[in-house]
Amino acid sequence: MLIPTILCGGAGSRLWPLSRDEYPKQLLPLAGEETMLQGTIRRLEGFACPDVILSPSPIVVCNEDHRFVVAQQLQEAGSAGASIILEPQGRNTAPALTVAALSAAENGGDSLLLVMPADHLVKNREAFHQAVERGIAPALSGAVVTFGIVPDWPETGYGYIQADQDSPFAEETFPILRFVEKPDFTTAESYLSTGDYCWNSGMFLVRAETWLKTMEQLQPSMLAACRAAFFRGRRDLDFHRLDSESFSECPADSIDYAVMENLRALADPSIRGVMVALDAGWSDVGAWDAVWRISEKDEEGNAASGDVLLENSQDSLVISTSRLVSCVGIDLLAVIETPDAVLVADMDKVQDVKKIVASLKAKE
Ligand code: GDD
Ligand code: MG
Repeated sequence: MLIPTILCGGAGSRLWPLSRDEYPKQLLPLAGEETMLQGTIRRLEGFACPDVILSPSPIVVCNEDHRFVVAQQLQEAGSAGASIILEPQGRNTAPALTVAALSAAENGGDSLLLVMPADHLVKNREAFHQAVERGIAPALSGAVVTFGIVPDWPETGYGYIQADQDSPFAEETFPILRFVEKPDFTTAESYLSTGDYCWNSGMFLVRAETWLKTMEQLQPSMLAACRAAFFRGRRDLDFHRLDSESFSECPADSIDYAVMENLRALADPSIRGVMVALDAGWSDVGAWDAVWRISEKDEEGNAASGDVLLENSQDSLVISTSRLVSCVGIDLLAVIETPDAVLVADMDKVQDVKKIVASLKAKE
């Protein structure tokens, strides 16, 4: 059984002021009509593979505060039977995947988890399905499979995978030699110039059992805390609430740092890292420049949404949600208007929007 497993607990602070604590980016329609979460669910529509049955009930791991919005959005996307696991507080992605694996293992059978962050855009669904299909055989045989993207620029916010392109296991499927999460700029530049590295897309395919075994070997205290939080947790309606006290004791870390960077250190040779190449119009909608990149633009390269008037302006993203926004002579800016906050940012500096959010939080 292939279970879509959606990690939906991030804060999305770089997309402030649209993305807020109560409505983080994954619950917003940033790329079209449906929300990022709904787009993630729909990404698997039409998937068919002879080796595995696609489960109609995804596992979604999110923050307790978002339970009703998440449940409603899943229902609207035709996914009413989801198991929704609620975190009292985010402990990053490694614990989130671990509680999802415990949930899959509890339901018995041999489950393959297709881990999808809820904040990505994949334009070509067919190519995505094909890559997932390629990952199934190695995942069934005990690998941790990730999907690699040919990098376009030395992004420091991504993980980098060095795959052994000379010894493919199968078409577009390679052993992972090295995984480096979020390198500094110079290192990222050197990876790009060797042509040897791919970006980690942040999607994974792994058997629940393999993941739990990997955690047991690499992160035993994290696994123990997740087990306690999961089994002492409370179930009501469609939700499984993790036990707050146990989960607060769980070390916080990402799949990438906690596991992917250390896979080769595992004593167990049956668990290995495998990369499937993915060329499907993937993007991580992380900051306003990414929103601009994926949006439809006019001839001057402007993407506008809402009540917006532009004059002699270029390569800008302007979003208005509650009043007329007019811009004259602007170039490479992000202008985001909401009823109680307006952001004006240089498109090259939009990563720093999170600093504004941090200083607002410090004032609270
Ligand atoms: N449930 C839950 N709990 N979900 C979480 C948590 C958490 O504590 N923290 C993050 N998430 C969700 C986010 O909502 C997002 O959908 C996904 O997990 C990935 O987290 P990010 O925080 O966005 O990770 P990242 O973008 O810095 O890095 C990851 O993705 C890159 C590609 O987009 C890594 O996997 C990188 O290696 C990768 O290149
Ligand atoms: Mg991300």
